[in-house]
Amino acid sequence: MRILTGLQPSGKLHIGNYFGAMQGAVRLQEEGDAFYFIANYHAMTSTSDPGALKENVTELAIDFLACGLDPDKATFYRQSDIPEVNELAWILSTVCPMGLLERCHSYKDKVAKGLSANHALFAYPVLMAADILLYDANLVPVGEDQKQHLEVTRDLCGKINDLYGADTLVMPDARINEQVAKVPGLDGQKMSKSYNNTIPIFGAQKKTRKLFMSIKTDSTPVEEPKSTEDSVILDLYRLFASDSDYQQMLTDFQAGGFGYGDFKQRLFDAYWEHFAPMREKRETYAADPAQVEEILRSGADRAREEADKVLQRVRKAAGIR
Ligand code: TYM
Repeated sequence: MRILTGLQPSGKLHIGNYFGAMQGAVRLQEEGDAFYFIANYHAMTSTSDPGALKENVTELAIDFLACGLDPDKATFYRQSDIPEVNELAWILSTVCPMGLLERCHSYKDKVAKGLSANHALFAYPVLMAADILLYDANLVPVGEDQKQHLEVTRDLCGKINDLYGADTLVMPDARINEQVAKVPGLDGQKMSKSYNNTIPIFGAQKKTRKLFMSIKTDSTPVEEPKSTEDSVILDLYRLFASDSDYQQMLTDFQAGGFGYGDFKQRLFDAYWEHFAPMREKRETYAADPAQVEEILRSGADRAREEADKVLQRVRKAAGIR
């Protein structure tokens, strides 16, 4: 079974990325042939600063390795090191109806937020489909926000197979863990850089504690019970805490006698402890960027072999050999 997922290098990774995609990806590397990559072509739709783009790739690689990606088990590479993906994207775009892309929420949201409505942003899901189909991926662990892109991928895969033969491309499935598919941000909306509500995985201690303390709460007095409905504190705590600690916080919410500051401190402590071993590992990788680069380079060699096989199959089927 081939497992594949990608993350955009668009700044500091946040705990939505971690729970929505990385944690599942790290677990799945034990169960199949994993291909994980850094989607730097995709990041060009939101950044045009060459220095930042390059730096963000290295930072993302370090973060993912620190979070448990094992380069001996998973093939880890930079999207742009396998430029063949652009050829497959072109071939897929020849069967992609405009309406399919026009319906994509992500495009509409990004334009509404002020990103320029250029071709790359519009065709983003086609490149993403190529990322997946170029490696015969079976399973794609992602968060809820990528669900529609996976549907586009499956749609395009079906169209190519109808046209050129059922064995041309492998049909992938999304793996969305519903419990962590939509991690809320500090304001209760989906955690996302574009909402400015993120909690970094590897933030500085004081600064990140301040972020947790900034979670908006109501003005229920300390001694009174607190509402457990739609509580960002509880929703985030559930991700980090053991079942019994989570139950304890629920009980304390309902009992009264504890202020929100106390709950936020417990949440911060659980977060800090969860990432402690990864923080240490991160320092080791950060001290050796040459090793990180070598991991990506050798991952690209292996990924390219796979990409070549699939692309030759598609070229032959489509008659453009
Ligand atoms: P990106 O970089 O925005 O996010 C990376 C992964 O994190 C998940 N995620 C979340 N999950 C739960 N709660 C949240 N608040 C949250 N925020 C982000 C995303 O769902 C994603 O799984 N288009 C992709 C990158 C990509 C890709 C691919 C993924 C390019 N090609 C091929 C899979 C396969 C993206 O922008 O993810």
